[in-house]
Amino acid sequence: MKKTTVFVIATAFTLMVAGQSFAGANCPQPRKTKSAPSADFKKVIPKKADAAHGKALYNKKVKPMACKNCHGAKGDGMGKLGKALKPNPRNFTCSDTMKKVSAGQMFWVIKNGSPGTGMVAHKKTLKDKDIWDIVKYIRTDLMK
Ligand code: HEC
Repeated sequence: MKKTTVFVIATAFTLMVAGQSFAGANCPQPRKTKSAPSADFKKVIPKKADAAHGKALYNKKVKPMACKNCHGAKGDGMGKLGKALKPNPRNFTCSDTMKKVSAGQMFWVIKNGSPGTGMVAHKKTLKDKDIWDIVKYIRTDLMK
C-alpha cells in the first residue's frame, strides 16, 4: 500500500473514533449523586464477583428496569430513556467523571439510589452479590 493511502485510511479512522465519542454523551459530566459514607466508598469488589452474570442483569434481568434502558448498552448514559432524563444517567465510559466514582460508591448508589435523580434504589430487588456482579461488569467491560 502507498504511504498516502495509509495516511488517508488512518485519518478517516481517527475521525470516526473521535466522532463517536463526541456524539451525544457528555464528558466530563455534571454529577448530582452524593458521596457514600467513607467506609462504604472504600469497599472493594469481592473476588467471587461474576461479571458475566452482572452483564445479564445489567442488560435485561434487573427489576424494575434494566440498567441498559438508562445507562445504555455501551454504558455511555445514552439509553432510550436515559437521554430524556435530567440529570442524565452516569456515563461510565467517561474516565474524567468516573475517576471520582469508586467500586464501593457504585455499590452504595445501586443499593440505595440517588434521591432527586432517576436512579432508583435496588435493595429490594437485588442481592448484595448481584450488585457486586454488576459493578464488576461495569468496571471491567464498560469503563475505559
Ligand atoms: C430510570 C433510569 C435509570 C436506571 C434504570 C438506572 N439508572 Fe443509574 N443513574 C441514573 C441517573 C439519572 C443517575 C444520576 C446521575 C447523576 O449523579 O447526576 C444514575 C447514577 C448511577 C451511578 C453513578 C453514581 C455516582 O456516584 O455517580 C451508578 C453507578 C449507576 N447509576 C448504576 C446503575 C445500575 C447498575 C443500574 C441497574 C441496576 C442503574 N444505574 C439503573 C439513571 C438510571
